Amino acid sequence: MLTQESITRKDFLRSMGLGGSALLAVLASCKNASDVVIPAGGISVDLATKLLSVNSYVYSNGVIIARIASGNTASSFVAVAQACTHEGTSVVYQSSGKFHCPNHGAEFNTSGAVTQGPATKSLTKYTVAVNGTTLTVS
Ligand code: FES
Repeated sequence: MLTQESITRKDFLRSMGLGGSALLAVLASCKNASDVVIPAGGISVDLATKLLSVNSYVYSNGVIIARIASGNTASSFVAVAQACTHEGTSVVYQSSGKFHCPNHGAEFNTSGAVTQGPATKSLTKYTVAVNGTTLTVS
């Protein structure tokens, strides 16, 4: 009789004989939505030095934060999980208002929804707030 068990990625890699620094290196290279870590107080970006031009973007804590319009208001920015939901490649923001995965070509809109496969699951979208020149993602 077959039973379904779940193990963590860490346990699986340990069962394969990977340990210590080798395990850490493998885990560091893997990205998925669960790799997003929003610190207490949120992710902060200094808008005086970053995201100065429309279509620019930065990665922080597993989140891609893009400027989609001019002005320092929350609606000028969007933040979604950086890892493509297909196989975890980091997405990039493109000027046409979409996030593109350079690995197999999946695309997502600024709400994180899939607009082109092979990905089938949306990117998690995060809340953006702006206070002066400080952007916070939570
Ligand atoms: S990893 Fe993004 S489309 Fe395959």
